Amino acid sequence: MTALNIGLIGCGFMGRAHTNAYKRVPDFFPELGRRPVLQAVCARSEADVRRFAGQWGYASFETDWHKLVARRDIDAVDVCVPNNLHREIALAVAQAGKMVLCEKPLAMNAAQGAEMAEAVEKAGVANMVWFNYRRVPAVTLAKHIIDDGRLGRIYHYRSSFLQDWTISADVPQGGHATWRLDVAAAGSGVTGDLLAHCIDTAIWLNGDLRDVSAMTETFVTERVHAETGAKQPVGIDDACAFMCHFANGSLGLFESTRYARGHKAAYTLEINGAEASIRWDLHDLHRLEYFDHRDRAEVRGWRSVHVTDNGGEHPYMDKWWAPDLQNGYEHSFVHQVADFLAALEEGHACSPTFRDALKTQVACDAILASAERRRWVEIG
Ligand SMILES: NC(=O)c1ccc[n+]([C@@H]2O[C@H](COP(=O)([O-])OP(=O)(O)OC[C@H]3O[C@@H](n4cnc5c(N)ncnc54)[C@H](O)[C@@H]3O)[C@@H](O)[C@H]2O)c1
Repeated sequence: MTALNIGLIGCGFMGRAHTNAYKRVPDFFPELGRRPVLQAVCARSEADVRRFAGQWGYASFETDWHKLVARRDIDAVDVCVPNNLHREIALAVAQAGKMVLCEKPLAMNAAQGAEMAEAVEKAGVANMVWFNYRRVPAVTLAKHIIDDGRLGRIYHYRSSFLQDWTISADVPQGGHATWRLDVAAAGSGVTGDLLAHCIDTAIWLNGDLRDVSAMTETFVTERVHAETGAKQPVGIDDACAFMCHFANGSLGLFESTRYARGHKAAYTLEINGAEASIRWDLHDLHRLEYFDHRDRAEVRGWRSVHVTDNGGEHPYMDKWWAPDLQNGYEHSFVHQVADFLAALEEGHACSPTFRDALKTQVACDAILASAERRRWVEIG
C-alpha cells in the first residue's frame, strides 16, 4: 500500500472530522492502494497543536502553515481553517505542486474561487472540496434514483438549513471561536456557511441554477469583537432565503438561518418529480423517504428507506455494520476520503473539485447581490 502523506492545517472541528476519516479509511476500505499517513498538523498555538498531534497521532507539527506547505514529506495539504485563509493557502499548495483538499465554502467570493480553480488546474494537482453531504449514503442513494430517471420531470426542489446559536446579542464576533460571525473571516453568514451545503447538493442532484431572487437579514446589527472588546457593526447575513430557477426548468426554494429556536443543524431537502418524490433530513440521516405514484393505489404512500437494511445494496453500506445498525455524520467524511483515494488510483478527478465548488460560490455571490439590489440576478 502506498502512503499518502497528509499535512493538515487547522485542528478545530473539521481538523478532527477529517483526521478521523483518514484513520478509518484503511480499515474499512482495505482494497484501496493508498493509505493516508498523518504526517504533520499545523495551527498557530503551539500548545494546542502539540496536544492535537499527540492525541490524534500526527508524526509532527508546525505553527506556520507556510512551513508545512514547503515540507518535502507532505503529498496532500488539507485546508481546515477559516474561509479567509483558503485562497492564500490553496494557491501556495498548488504552486508547491501538491494535492489540496479544501474545506467549504471554497473561498470568500467567486473571484477568489475562480483564481483557486485556475491555479490547481494549471498546476495539474488533484483537488477536492469537502461538501461532505454528497457522501451521506441516503443522499448518494437519492442521486442514484434521480439519475435513473425514476422521478420523471422535476418540478420542485426545496431545502433548508436551520440553526439557533447566534440569537443572543451577547455572542461576540471574530476571534477563535466566533470567526463565523465576522465578515472579514467568513466572507458571509449563513449563505456561505450553511446554504453553500444546500446549493452544492442541489446542483449535484438537480443541475445548475439559472437565476436567483434572495432576501437576507441581519437581526443583531452590532456585536462585541471577541479579541478587541470593541463593539462593531455586524457584516454577515444572519438569515437568507432565496428562490431560483434551475436550468432543467424546475423551481427552487431555499432557506437558512441561525435564528430558528430549537434547531441545531436542521438540514433538509425535498425534490418533487412528475412520478415520484424524495425527502431527506439530516436528523434522521440514514433514511431516505420516497413516494412513487406508480405504486398500486392500495399500498401507495411515503416509504422510509433505511440505508443499512438491504444487505449492503445501498451506497457505501457494504463497508459497515449489520442491517439496522446506524450510520452517522462522520461516515460522510470517511467516504469522501475513500472516494478521493480511489479517484487517484483510477486517474480521474474526485468531485466536487475546485471547479465544481466554484459553481456554488458563484451562486452565493449572486444570492448576496440579489438581496442587496432587491432584484433577480442571473447566474453567470
Ligand atoms: N464540511 C462541513 O460540514 C464543515 C463543517 C464545519 C466547518 N466547515 C469549514 O471548515 C473550515 C474550518 O471550520 P472549523 O469549524 O473547523 O473551524 P474551527 O474554528 O473549529 O477551527 C479552525 C482551526 O483553524 C486554525 N487556524 C486559524 N488561523 C490559522 C492560521 N493562520 N494558521 C494555522 N491555523 C489556523 C485554528 O487554530 C483552528 O484550529 C471553515 O472553512 C468552515 O466553513 C465545514
